[in-house]
Amino acid sequence: MCGIVGYIGPRDATPIILNGLQRLEYRGYDSAGLAVIKDGQIEVRRDAGKLSRLTALVNGSPISGHIGIGHTRWATHGQPNATNAHPHMGMTGEVVIVHNGIVENYLELKEELLAEGAVFKSETDTETIVHLIERYLSSETDLAEASRRALNHLKGAHAVVVMSTREPDKIIAARIGHSGGVAVGFGKGEMFLASDIPAILEHTREVAFLESHQMAILTREGVRVQTLDGQPVAYEIHKIAWDPVSAEKGEFRHFMQKEIHEQGRALTDTIGGRADFERGTIHLPELNLTSDLARQIERIYITACGTASYAAMVGKILIERIARIPAEVVIASEFRYADPIVDTHTAVLAISQSGETADTLAAMDEGKKRGATLWSIVNAIGSQAMRIADGYIPMLTGPEIGVASTKAYTAPLVDQYMLAILLADLRGTLDAKTRRKLVNDIRLIPDLAGQVLEREAQYEEVARTLMNVSHCLYLGRGINMPTAYEGALKLKEISYIHAEGYPAGEMKHGPIALIDRDMPVVVIATRDQWYEKMISQIEQAKARGGPVIVVANDGDQTIAPLADHVLWVPETPWMLSPVTNVIPLQILAYHIAALRGLDVDQPRNLAKSVTVE
Ligand code: AGP
Repeated sequence: MCGIVGYIGPRDATPIILNGLQRLEYRGYDSAGLAVIKDGQIEVRRDAGKLSRLTALVNGSPISGHIGIGHTRWATHGQPNATNAHPHMGMTGEVVIVHNGIVENYLELKEELLAEGAVFKSETDTETIVHLIERYLSSETDLAEASRRALNHLKGAHAVVVMSTREPDKIIAARIGHSGGVAVGFGKGEMFLASDIPAILEHTREVAFLESHQMAILTREGVRVQTLDGQPVAYEIHKIAWDPVSAEKGEFRHFMQKEIHEQGRALTDTIGGRADFERGTIHLPELNLTSDLARQIERIYITACGTASYAAMVGKILIERIARIPAEVVIASEFRYADPIVDTHTAVLAISQSGETADTLAAMDEGKKRGATLWSIVNAIGSQAMRIADGYIPMLTGPEIGVASTKAYTAPLVDQYMLAILLADLRGTLDAKTRRKLVNDIRLIPDLAGQVLEREAQYEEVARTLMNVSHCLYLGRGINMPTAYEGALKLKEISYIHAEGYPAGEMKHGPIALIDRDMPVVVIATRDQWYEKMISQIEQAKARGGPVIVVANDGDQTIAPLADHVLWVPETPWMLSPVTNVIPLQILAYHIAALRGLDVDQPRNLAKSVTVE
């Protein structure tokens, strides 16, 4: 989950790299650094802390050059300090690298290198890589070959970028496994590298992506891509539709706030062109789903991490209810060890905003290895989860920069709703009237989401009453049980308040002992088949003195007198209610964190894309 940027061309690399790193800070922000080559020398600037400290360092002690690499770090090995910050040099002063991933065999390699006389300056596993490259670099072995040989020693997943004063007209980039993408950007007489495309969007929208065990050799004129055995491979240039502006905050205080408010537009985009409201049909062309395949599927595993796994829990209900196909949610970090029952009648559906989450990619590999049909619902264009699937559904929300997922939660809810309809339609198990009704309900969603977003000020008032609490319970039932889990995750990951989502029906089996006046309870109680049960849930919480905040439908006069605060939402068809019901909880968490003066977009210890297991 580190961020990497590289540049080679006629312009000064330093500002291009710093600007690119700023767009990647959400990937990790323990420390940052950059290196350029000028007049045959490698110059490095690096520091612990946020990118602003590196920028100040560079302003105080400028460096410039026409070739450079930069890095923002999410520490895995070694304290987040200047010594462990990337880039890392070896002993000759001729080679410098940045790295994303974990060298799983670094202790063994370090011992071997120490025995050869290598001197280590940092506590990082990364440093073993640069010493290995120096071991092989010689007058007979060029930088690409030396890098290949070094990388063949490594265990684990990696993205590595290398420069050397011996060949100052080249940047080498390589990818092993799933750790963090490597995107190659094509300019005019200049080339770019990035771990994520927002870093280079303002310079180019023509991007190629390295696959695992591939190496790119960049010069100003272009790129050669090879396997790690040195065999040339073809690559595809993708045209990225995202515009640079969409990766900016605009008038919002934080990316998260902007992205919460983008959900009306994002849902319009994710629905657009796929729901045919005239015919009442669904079209998901990238899924490559035929009637034969749809009829062949007897079981679906939905696998994901974090917020995406809660979206998967909603998807399970939708697929089973609409398509009548057994669906099971298995969180990705468990899937590969679960010895799942998979065969050619199984589909494995992965959900991932970044498309680079190592656990989710490992689960996809496991499903494919066992013969499953592999689908993914992904936001990041060209990401691994998009490319290794047999078919995919792009979320089309535009870049999500805030670490806390918002639009990348609501979009897959609608994507899975459309998938369920398409599956049922292709299997012939959905009559036309029902299908039309289900499809037309989707038409309501962007406007309903917009109505909820207009109520931000009301939700902010409720946030003020909760900004100093230490604990919070979120309760939901049925299709809104995952809404409770997601609401709790939003609160804990950006406000650092301990919050727990819980199945409402389970409270009486123990957790209700937790409720007292210091334990606020957020209850999702919009009108659906579980509504009556939720009323009694609210009364049980009230009876124990807990402050109760309820997500309720407009005009609900049963709930109004029972709740301490109500987060009002418009009536929504129950299968799509998780979309409208989660938005007040996103806004509540956002304002509590903002009121607590916390770094909403870059919460401590987190990174946007967890590309290590
Ligand atoms: C959610 O707010 C968190 N950022 C985290 O749980 C995230 O959803 C999870 O890491 C999965 O990320 P992905 O969707 O990119 O795979």
